[in-house]
Amino acid sequence: MAEQPLADVIVLFGGTGDLAQKMLFPSLYFLDADGFLADGFAIIATARAEMSREAFIAEVKESVGSRAGPAGLDAKAWARFETRLDYVGADATTPEGAAELKAALGEARIPIFYLALSPSIYGRVCAALSQAGLATPKTRIVLEKPIGRDLASSRVINGAVAEVFPEDSIFRIDHYLGKETVQNLLALRFANTLFEPLWNNLTIDHVQITVAETEGVGDRWPYYDEYGALRDMVQNHMLQLLCLVAMEPPSDMEPDSVRDEKVKVLRSLRPVTRADVQTVSVRGQYTPGVSGGASVGGYEAERGQPTDTETFVALRVDIDNWRWAGVPFFLRTGKRLPERRTQIAIQFKPVPHSIFDGAAKADLAANRLVIDLQPDEDIELLLMNKAPGLSERGMRLQSLPLSLSLAKAYSGPNARRRIAYERLILDVIQNNRTLFVRRDEVERAWEWIDGVAQAWRDSGMAPKPYAAGSWGPAGAFALIERSDRAWYD
Ligand code: BG6
Repeated sequence: MAEQPLADVIVLFGGTGDLAQKMLFPSLYFLDADGFLADGFAIIATARAEMSREAFIAEVKESVGSRAGPAGLDAKAWARFETRLDYVGADATTPEGAAELKAALGEARIPIFYLALSPSIYGRVCAALSQAGLATPKTRIVLEKPIGRDLASSRVINGAVAEVFPEDSIFRIDHYLGKETVQNLLALRFANTLFEPLWNNLTIDHVQITVAETEGVGDRWPYYDEYGALRDMVQNHMLQLLCLVAMEPPSDMEPDSVRDEKVKVLRSLRPVTRADVQTVSVRGQYTPGVSGGASVGGYEAERGQPTDTETFVALRVDIDNWRWAGVPFFLRTGKRLPERRTQIAIQFKPVPHSIFDGAAKADLAANRLVIDLQPDEDIELLLMNKAPGLSERGMRLQSLPLSLSLAKAYSGPNARRRIAYERLILDVIQNNRTLFVRRDEVERAWEWIDGVAQAWRDSGMAPKPYAAGSWGPAGAFALIERSDRAWYD
């Protein structure tokens, strides 16, 4: 990719909010500490509250400090970072508010406007920026999810932003794409000769994608109850993971080359219909149970009233194209599951004919590639081996992992697990959109998700209860067992 002009200021809208404090300021601090922010790069936070610059800096220092952990802040790095920070108390949806921001931007020529706000006001903020003369061809605008709650509402939001900014100024964040191991999927598939010839329905039996969380919804329910697991996790993070596993090799790493291939996958997803929704999907909602050794309440108690929002989804997804015909993708995600685990498992087919007999024949298991994204980053290829030693019953076979423990491989005094947002913010500064989601991608994903939600409504499918700390409702096991497979728990 040709060298791009670097942005010289980032404005964080919603600068006092949770996302900014927990993720964005710490990411910017770490980027700065590692020398990725140019001299003069400025960081301006804006929100409605009036606050002095000093009070704001004290708040940011606390957030960044708690993210830095026991190592604490590096005094020299913080002193430099602090000089970059400024705060503007303004209502960004009004021309007056945008004008105040303009004054704060000073001489900056290439601004990034990062909207960590409710998407319902994206349109108004963009219009105000435009009125203040801040929407120039050099401006970059970052949008956080959820972009809509369905296709229609996402079109409204995207449409309002598009009235002011062209698509190539827009960076839609899916923070999963900033995770190291997610990007490593591209390296694994396209920087090795080994896997790609096998990456199809001739050799692969099925794929499992699990995003399990132990946390409950807690006080996020006002947002979550409107969305549920399907819209909160599947529409974005899980479909992105599926696309990276399933897409054809892009011709290069240019943003549109990669995004074109992802869109083709989304277009090939078999729609879920009322006729098959009960066999290909499961909705669940957690009830009281035990999580992390402690008794925890159910979602309804957190919500304060009965609700039919799902906190768990399992799906069988079929991709109707040449490469994946007959290879089901099983997806599941949920809150209050027994462990935090984000994992992609590629299950290969068994060997076509076994030359082994006796015990060894029974030992024979098909190969599996397991990509762990969280909490540990690891890639394991399960291979069959001869178990060492002698046995009266003849040779024995055993499945053993060939393991790339990424934490070990990349351990060292300076090794630190980066926040996904560090990569993404740096990409916006450098104007690289490869890891951001294009408008048609978001909309194709919504189209498919709308089909699932509609089929749930049409068939009156309410969430089934599951005890907090379990792997979801019994139906999730039945869903995969129906095709003679099982979840890897
Ligand atoms: C967010 C969802 O996008 O992703 C949350 O809104 C979820 O509900 C979170 O907990 C999971 O992200 P991570 O990086 O912790 O796996």
